[in-house]
Amino acid sequence: MPDDTLTITDNRTGQKYTVPIENGTIRAMNLRQIKTRPEDFGLMTYDPAFMNTASCRSSITYIDGERGILRYRGYPIEVLAERCTFLEVAYLLLFGELPTEPELKSWVHDITHHTMLHESTKKFMEGFRYDGHPMGMFVSTVAALSTVYPDARHVHDPASRLLQIKRLIGKVPSIAAMSYRHNMEFPYVYPDNDLSYAENFMNMLWKMVEPKYVAQPAIARALDILFILHADHEQNCGTNAMRSVSSAQTDPYLSMASAAAALAGPLHGGANEEVLKMLDEIGSKDKVPAYIKKVKDGGVKLMGFGHRIYKNYDPRAKIIKWTAEQVFEVTGRNPKLEIALELERIALEDEYFVKRKLYPNVDFYSGIMYQAMGFRPEMFTVLFAIPRTAGWLAQWQELITDPEQKIARPRQIYTGHEEREFVAMGKRTATAVPAR
Ligand code: CMC
Repeated sequence: MPDDTLTITDNRTGQKYTVPIENGTIRAMNLRQIKTRPEDFGLMTYDPAFMNTASCRSSITYIDGERGILRYRGYPIEVLAERCTFLEVAYLLLFGELPTEPELKSWVHDITHHTMLHESTKKFMEGFRYDGHPMGMFVSTVAALSTVYPDARHVHDPASRLLQIKRLIGKVPSIAAMSYRHNMEFPYVYPDNDLSYAENFMNMLWKMVEPKYVAQPAIARALDILFILHADHEQNCGTNAMRSVSSAQTDPYLSMASAAAALAGPLHGGANEEVLKMLDEIGSKDKVPAYIKKVKDGGVKLMGFGHRIYKNYDPRAKIIKWTAEQVFEVTGRNPKLEIALELERIALEDEYFVKRKLYPNVDFYSGIMYQAMGFRPEMFTVLFAIPRTAGWLAQWQELITDPEQKIARPRQIYTGHEEREFVAMGKRTATAVPAR
């Protein structure tokens, strides 16, 4: 029986240390005993961008990047996308089990009855510039909810946590829709409690003068599937921000605003918007080889390709491609699909991409589908943030109730000056600031 330990020899001192291995990891704190002198700080690990560091134990989402597997609470994403609604999946992520029929009914009722925003929040949103980016409006308004619900600071009270969870999941589609209507300079539309989560979102986006909004069922289902696919993705950049900020016991509105801010970046959730810009720039199928050359020459990145974890394929991208076909049957094909398919075909055969294990990720096809549904590219990342709210909150609950967690506070390797003499104003030399 092999011993689940690791023996380290410090060649500086000849000392041997044995540390336990658990779940394929060693505890970084076990390295601190490795010192050259008693007054030494002890050995640390250096891991910029967390390439090889587990920051928590989690039972929410499982990913096997080599085999292209994604599961929420043990259920394969493919099965959940086919058989569930988004709110059912949100319940699963948050509470660990699929809801029974009465549980789901009560959950849907509760979320539906938290979709309204206070008029003061509506007024707050009216203050944004007419052409402000919807993601900026989303992030700021989620943060502003902290002022509306000061009770949210009781993060150790389970009842308060549950209330904030219901409020946030209920309100994010309303904020997202308001950001869209604000950009369009259309009047805001209030939620309609008769409609499902996705249908009500469509109502708040697109209702004009008709007395009752009727959603196109295929589009509503496609949106719900997209919400399921985006609901959680373990310790990605946004979720890490959520955990890191809420580890300071910050309220969930402020913490979630930081998570959404991370998501807004073009390397993260903002990539779906960038894919559309890229397809516009390419313009037509015959220009694809030239663009691929530009990527290989290091000029640009192929947006919607590559993933830190998936090194085979992104299972979400496969489901999205299938869902897109259903959407195109209703909306007609987005002409950009041709360019995207050609880009994928060439890239998957090309040694540059094969060698680096670069495959289409979730963002590659989602934008094309969103555009066919009638969304402007600026809205795409907001569409990602709505369902990710469930994941962020599930991860937040897990963090708050984990006795091993403390305030997140990494170490650094200091590379600056040793202590130096203060330089009086008249004796200072000009600093070489880069030209503007
Ligand atoms: N196009 C061209 N080359 C790429 C790409 C790309 N999209 N992605 C990675 N590479 C290259 C990279 O230049 C590097 O090459 P080399 O070894 O010659 O230096 C190699 O592949 C490894 O890349 P990396 O930057 O070390 O990989 P990473 O794990 O740090 O980055 C990533 C992952 C997603 C940030 C990156 O692949 C990327 O920027 N992709 C484009 C943006 C994108 O689509 N993001 C959405 C991610 S999925 C949604 C989400 O969860 O947020």
